[in-house]
Amino acid sequence: MPGEGKTFCALNLAAVFAYSEKKTVIIGFDMRKPGLNKVLNLNDYEGLSQYYIGKVQLDDIIHTTEQDNLFVIPSGAIPPNPSELISSPKTNELFEELSKRFDVIILDTPPMGVVADPVLLARKSDTLIFLARQNYTIREAFYQTLKHLETEGITNTGVLFNDIQIKKGRKNAKYGYGYGYGYGYGYGYGYGHGYYEEQ
Ligand SMILES: Nc1ncnc2c1ncn2[C@@H]1O[C@H](COP(=O)(O)OP(=O)(O)OP(=O)(O)O)[C@@H](O)[C@H]1O
Ligand SMILES: [Mg+2]
Repeated sequence: MPGEGKTFCALNLAAVFAYSEKKTVIIGFDMRKPGLNKVLNLNDYEGLSQYYIGKVQLDDIIHTTEQDNLFVIPSGAIPPNPSELISSPKTNELFEELSKRFDVIILDTPPMGVVADPVLLARKSDTLIFLARQNYTIREAFYQTLKHLETEGITNTGVLFNDIQIKKGRKNAKYGYGYGYGYGYGYGYGYGHGYYEEQ
């Protein structure tokens, strides 16, 4: 669904890979609603759409960022026919060339349940990361989309739960994620302190 955090997580994931010295490129494959362009201020940059119609070469659309090892390919001007472009042989050419130059390629896509593009791209990817956001994603839509993926034969799928609020004060909170450990949260103040108000 829109707003679940696909662009946010894709960019953060790319930044983490780049930080760990993997040469990483993030591609704005949401050509209909270019969220990545907006976040990185790339609205006027040439990108995927111009590459697909042969107006520019690959080198013209790979841009550096403020972070070492992190590169970005913006989506470019909004085209009338993104699915058609993605189904063209140019996509294979693009991925072949990029996989020679980069360790990690991350695609920011439109929502899975809305258009065909993510399914087309999933077939060409090593892994599909399917996002759900706490208190936001509709359970039934999540279930139906996972079922749809299965029907489409896409099995290389992982689920990323975004924006999880971990409740404070859970009984065993001091063991989870190092939460409170070392901060004296309940520890050293006697058990039960602050732990039992929410179960
Ligand atoms: N874990 C998070 N913590 C805080 N803010 C978040 C988190 N995840 C997403 N957001 C914010 O939520 C908003 C929507 O996120 P984002 O644009 O990444 O969604 P999207 O799934 O790419 O949506 P669309 O399908 O419309 O492109 C943004 O303002 C983003 O900064
Ligand atoms: Mg987005």
